Amino acid sequence: MASFVWTLYLGFLFWASGAMGAAPKKPVDVPFGRNYVPTWAIDHIKYFNGESEIQLSLDKYTGTGFQSKGSYLFGHFSMQIKMVPADSAGTVTAFYLSSQYSEHDEIDFEFLGNRTGQPYILQTNVFTGGKGDREHRIYLWFDPTKAYHSYSVLWNLYQIVFFVDDVPIRVFKNSKDLGVKFPFDQPMKIYSSLWNADDWATRGGLEKTDWSKAPFVASYRGFHIDGCEASVNAKFCATQGKRWWDHRDFQDLNGLQYRRLSWVRQKYTIYNYCTDRVRYPTLPPECNRDRDI
Ligand SMILES: *[C@@H]1O[C@H](CO)[C@@H](O)[C@H](O)[C@H]1NC(C)=O
Repeated sequence: MASFVWTLYLGFLFWASGAMGAAPKKPVDVPFGRNYVPTWAIDHIKYFNGESEIQLSLDKYTGTGFQSKGSYLFGHFSMQIKMVPADSAGTVTAFYLSSQYSEHDEIDFEFLGNRTGQPYILQTNVFTGGKGDREHRIYLWFDPTKAYHSYSVLWNLYQIVFFVDDVPIRVFKNSKDLGVKFPFDQPMKIYSSLWNADDWATRGGLEKTDWSKAPFVASYRGFHIDGCEASVNAKFCATQGKRWWDHRDFQDLNGLQYRRLSWVRQKYTIYNYCTDRVRYPTLPPECNRDRDI
């Protein structure tokens, strides 16, 4: 019986990694309050259906945001978001993981709004030991304001993968062997916020927020967190190695995932710091690894 269950489990892992990448192993539809608390401007958050869905709003006085209750070292974190519709130029909706102290680690999704009918940009970044400047920018292959889509991060000792639905849009491999820091010992909290960034966000700051269209509203659901809760004992998480995300299937992307990643790179990339020779005359070391992908 036990081995039958084990076979089923392995079969599931195999299927999940082949078909869907970092398929969540825990239910994704958990209510907001299970994992998150509001951080600021709490009157700008509205709750629906027993907190299974929330809306953040931005007006000319303030934006708002929320954060996870726990801190985590490794795991899988996802959120379903419907971006600010219509004229969202100047607004930024962010979903990110960040550690607390000065030499911080951070894994960012930032959605830059646009004028009605013009495409959003998804900017991602990775900070390790306080060093960022690793922006990627892409267009999405769908309109992110029309329906919920899932945005997720898989983080283990081997790699950080950014997913949009089931598609890996970016991989940051552990390149410690090349002298690049990798987040492994600082727990991170998960944050989300909606704010005004019309000094840089849309067409580099040329398009200003049209406050006559306020409030700007982004909707959220699926407050899924499946990580090693580290507030208690970070070392325990770092040395575990036994959680599902440590399994061999999640140490690298599979063939299908690499094909999808290269599809995104070829068709949707606007900017990749690894190809910016003006900014980086010497290629950052992790980019050499990146290039093989
Ligand atoms: C907004 O639309 C313009 C025009 O299509 C485009 O150049 C730009 O990349 C879009 N996105 C942002 C966030 O500026």
